[in-house]
Amino acid sequence: MRGKFITLEGPEGSGKSTQAKMMIRRLAELGIEAITTREPGGTALGEEIRNILQHNQAGEAPCERAELLLFEASRNQLVEKVIRPALENGTWVICDRFMDSTTAYQGYGRGLPVDEVKAIHLFTINDVTPDLTLLLDLEVETGFERIAERFLALGESADRFEQEERSFHERVRQGYLKLAAEEPDRFRIVDASQDPKTVSVDIWATVKPLLKGE
Ligand code: TMP
Repeated sequence: MRGKFITLEGPEGSGKSTQAKMMIRRLAELGIEAITTREPGGTALGEEIRNILQHNQAGEAPCERAELLLFEASRNQLVEKVIRPALENGTWVICDRFMDSTTAYQGYGRGLPVDEVKAIHLFTINDVTPDLTLLLDLEVETGFERIAERFLALGESADRFEQEERSFHERVRQGYLKLAAEEPDRFRIVDASQDPKTVSVDIWATVKPLLKGE
């Protein structure tokens, strides 16, 4: 049987990576084989693209459409090299960000035409569509407070997206909420302002029906 494909979406600091790890642990306890991966990245080529996108190493930020296409290139590589083979093998895939990130950040955030952005996704994902998308929603300011704590703890600094102004991130958040309202069958909104354990309980309640093939 084909594995299930679950994507985690949300604004900065929404705790997606922590939740992905917790979900994998729960699935493993039930004997379900599952992998986590992330975007941009998840393949050798994708991780190189991630570096280009986040850290502006060429000293020249990509133009808006170039930025979008770099995300799409990383995504197609991940779909064909990792996600599709895993699903066909019966393995579940939990992906930290996927196509809805591009619609939210490049479409709603940067202001590229959303319908055109969505059409490009169809070409990129080549029929590999998430069974479930969890939107970990929280206030932009709360997310940035969490990131600031992480920076202090790990000595990291803000990447190109985290440096964007708050209004950009507010457009991203509202964009996500709009996407979730448009596709209620695929999306579930989770209140990510709660503590990680409570968030994981809420997430599990939405993932459980997939175990029975619902
Ligand atoms: P993250 O892995 O820490 O969430 O960082 C990825 C960053 O890239 C984050 O700021 C969101 C941004 N992003 C986009 O702008 N568009 C996309 O399609 C994806 C996958 C991520």
